[in-house]
Amino acid sequence: MRTDMRSGQKQYLSFRDFDSPDGSDVSTAPTPDTMTPNPTPNDLKVILAKYLMSEKTLREIRDSLVDIARNAGQMMINADPSVCTSDTKKNTSDRVTETDKAIEKMVHSRLQSAYPNIDFLGEETFKVGQKLSDKPTFVCDPIDGTLNFIHGFPNTAVSLALTVAKKPVVGVIYNPFRGDLYTAVKGQGAYLTTASGRTHNLPIRSTPAALPSLNGCLVALEWGSERQGPNWDLRTSMSQTLLSSRSTGGAMVHSIRSSGSAALDFCYVAAGQMDLFWEGGCWIWDVCAGWCILEEAGGMVASANPGDWRPELEGRCYLAVRGAMREEQESVVRELWGLMGKRRFVF
Ligand code: IPD
Repeated sequence: MRTDMRSGQKQYLSFRDFDSPDGSDVSTAPTPDTMTPNPTPNDLKVILAKYLMSEKTLREIRDSLVDIARNAGQMMINADPSVCTSDTKKNTSDRVTETDKAIEKMVHSRLQSAYPNIDFLGEETFKVGQKLSDKPTFVCDPIDGTLNFIHGFPNTAVSLALTVAKKPVVGVIYNPFRGDLYTAVKGQGAYLTTASGRTHNLPIRSTPAALPSLNGCLVALEWGSERQGPNWDLRTSMSQTLLSSRSTGGAMVHSIRSSGSAALDFCYVAAGQMDLFWEGGCWIWDVCAGWCILEEAGGMVASANPGDWRPELEGRCYLAVRGAMREEQESVVRELWGLMGKRRFVF
């Protein structure tokens, strides 16, 4: 669901599958609204019925995921991770702990016994070549922000989602160190419940501020673990372009933040505490739950690479934009894409 910023009415987004990008020029690429003229949740109901599910099932699944996320959070709090006891994956900046593996095992086994017919895709058990199918699938990142976790930096979360027809329809993200729980069900809004037990609608400001240009934006950008090559060059040069003054061809954004958790970056954009999150390289489990939460909070996801207004969950290139008037959202997307020139992430 998104909020029409002029009328204040909630609008349902279409669940329809969209054409893949046609490679057309950024300035003429079709925009989301021209591709979804009459958004309605009916197509979601039809797809759910195919799998003997309903919107009520999604709410029940959300409640199960919240319970499992709180269990995972307790496991994180009980753990005593350190740099020394973590293992490297691809390189020394790509780490995994015993807690990541234990949480994924717990999540998988609880979901399997409660929902034996729903597939599972998890970061720690992912096999190269494994692809998301149209069937209902749970997507799990047991600890997003593992580097934060092993350093004791309290910006770490478990991220759990359900996809149907390759779209996220339930998202639950829980940071046990702050007690922040973010939840969303497709078509039913997005919420933040804080440690005090208070629940807020997302975005937190009921009438989001204007989003006139990159110039006034707080932008999330992560560094990833790939520290050389063209993708690294793009990441570092774009951060310089975004930060530098307009007289030198930059965007002069207010600033850049790197929280160390892509899942929480999506939540901060959904909450309206960040304006954008530009990211190439993270994986479906990093963004899946956050994507559902962001869209339900009136935000949108385009690709980090120019021209693609309908990125795939597994596409590894994302530009998350907070709730605002649709023309403003599209305008900052085009502005950021314009700064990239001919540069692109390649995966
Ligand atoms: C990582 C975080 C980080 C992003 C990396 C991810 P992990 O997830 O989301 O912000 O830059 O690309 O891999 O490894 O902590 O689950």
